[in-house]
Amino acid sequence: MVRLLLKTLFLEILLLLLHHSSAVDDDDLSPFPKKFLFGTASSSYQYEGGYNINGKGQSNWDNFTHGDTKIIVDGSNGDIAVDHYHRYQVGYQRGFI
Ligand SMILES: *[C@@H]1O[C@H](CO)[C@@H](O)[C@H](O)[C@H]1NC(C)=O
Repeated sequence: MVRLLLKTLFLEILLLLLHHSSAVDDDDLSPFPKKFLFGTASSSYQYEGGYNINGKGQSNWDNFTHGDTKIIVDGSNGDIAVDHYHRYQVGYQRGFI
Protein backbone atom coordinates (compact mmCIF):
# COMPACT_ATOMS: atom_id res chain seq x y z
CA MET A 1 0.00 0.00 0.00
CA VAL A 2 2.77 2.43 0.94
CA ARG A 3 4.65 1.55 -2.26
CA LEU A 4 1.55 2.31 -4.32
CA LEU A 5 1.12 5.66 -2.58
CA LEU A 6 4.77 6.55 -3.10
CA LYS A 7 4.59 5.49 -6.75
CA THR A 8 1.46 7.61 -7.28
CA LEU A 9 3.03 10.56 -5.48
CA PHE A 10 6.19 10.24 -7.59
CA LEU A 11 4.14 10.18 -10.81
CA GLU A 12 2.11 13.20 -9.70
CA ILE A 13 5.25 15.18 -8.92
CA LEU A 14 6.77 14.14 -12.26
CA LEU A 15 3.62 15.23 -14.12
CA LEU A 16 3.60 18.53 -12.25
CA LEU A 17 7.23 19.18 -13.15
CA LEU A 18 6.66 18.26 -16.80
CA HIS A 19 3.55 20.41 -16.99
CA HIS A 20 5.31 23.33 -15.32
CA SER A 21 8.42 23.10 -17.53
CA SER A 22 6.36 22.98 -20.72
CA ALA A 23 4.26 25.97 -19.63
CA VAL A 24 7.26 28.21 -18.95
CA ASP A 25 9.06 30.08 -21.70
CA ASP A 26 12.82 29.62 -21.22
CA ASP A 27 13.51 33.30 -21.88
CA ASP A 28 10.78 34.64 -19.65
CA LEU A 29 10.40 33.04 -16.24
CA SER A 30 7.86 35.57 -15.06
CA PRO A 31 4.40 34.18 -14.41
CA PHE A 32 2.93 37.55 -15.44
CA PRO A 33 1.82 38.38 -18.98
CA LYS A 34 4.48 40.18 -21.06
CA LYS A 35 2.46 43.40 -21.13
CA PHE A 36 1.87 43.39 -17.38
CA LEU A 37 3.20 46.60 -15.87
CA PHE A 38 4.28 46.80 -12.28
CA GLY A 39 3.82 49.96 -10.32
CA THR A 40 4.53 51.12 -6.85
CA ALA A 41 2.95 53.68 -4.66
CA SER A 42 3.54 55.33 -1.37
CA SER A 43 1.90 58.03 0.63
CA SER A 44 3.37 61.25 1.89
CA TYR A 45 2.88 59.96 5.42
CA GLN A 46 5.07 56.94 4.69
CA TYR A 47 7.69 59.08 3.00
CA GLU A 48 8.07 62.64 4.07
CA GLY A 49 8.58 62.87 7.80
CA GLY A 50 8.84 66.41 9.16
CA TYR A 51 5.39 66.03 10.65
CA ASN A 52 5.59 69.18 12.79
CA ILE A 53 7.76 71.48 10.68
CA ASN A 54 6.96 74.77 8.90
CA GLY A 55 3.48 75.09 10.29
CA LYS A 56 2.20 71.87 8.77
CA GLY A 57 -1.04 70.95 10.44
CA GLN A 58 -1.69 67.60 12.04
CA SER A 59 -2.98 65.01 9.60
CA ASN A 60 -5.40 62.22 10.40
CA TRP A 61 -2.48 59.83 10.68
CA ASP A 62 -0.58 62.18 13.00
CA ASN A 63 -3.63 62.28 15.20
CA PHE A 64 -4.22 58.54 15.01
CA THR A 65 -0.65 57.57 15.83
CA HIS A 66 -0.15 60.14 18.57
CA GLY A 67 -3.39 59.34 20.30
CA ASP A 68 -3.99 56.94 23.12
CA THR A 69 -5.34 54.23 20.87
CA LYS A 70 -2.69 51.86 19.61
CA ILE A 71 -3.63 52.01 15.96
CA ILE A 72 -0.21 50.63 15.00
CA VAL A 73 0.65 47.61 17.11
CA ASP A 74 4.31 48.42 17.71
CA GLY A 75 3.54 52.08 18.44
CA SER A 76 5.55 53.36 15.50
CA ASN A 77 4.49 56.37 13.44
CA GLY A 78 5.48 58.39 10.38
CA ASP A 79 6.90 61.37 12.25
CA ILE A 80 10.25 60.86 10.54
CA ALA A 81 9.41 58.09 8.04
CA VAL A 82 12.25 58.03 5.45
CA ASP A 83 12.85 61.69 6.27
CA HIS A 84 12.41 62.86 2.70
CA TYR A 85 11.65 66.31 4.07
CA HIS A 86 15.29 66.69 5.14
CA ARG A 87 17.00 64.31 2.70
CA TYR A 88 15.50 65.14 -0.67
CA GLN A 89 18.59 67.13 -1.71
CA VAL A 90 20.77 64.05 -1.25
CA GLY A 91 18.39 62.23 -3.57
CA TYR A 92 18.80 64.97 -6.18
CA GLN A 93 22.58 64.91 -5.87
CA ARG A 94 22.68 61.14 -6.35
CA GLY A 95 20.21 61.19 -9.21
CA PHE A 96 17.47 59.24 -7.43
CA ILE A 97 14.88 61.94 -8.01
C1 LIG B 1 -5.65 66.64 14.49
O1 LIG B 1 -5.72 67.12 15.79
C2 LIG B 1 -5.54 68.56 15.88
C3 LIG B 1 -5.50 68.93 17.36
O2 LIG B 1 -6.62 68.46 18.03
C4 LIG B 1 -6.67 69.24 15.13
O3 LIG B 1 -6.49 70.64 15.15
C5 LIG B 1 -6.66 68.77 13.68
O4 LIG B 1 -7.77 69.29 12.99
C6 LIG B 1 -6.70 67.24 13.61
N1 LIG B 1 -6.48 66.84 12.24
C7 LIG B 1 -7.40 66.15 11.57
C8 LIG B 1 -7.03 65.85 10.13
O5 LIG B 1 -8.43 65.77 12.06
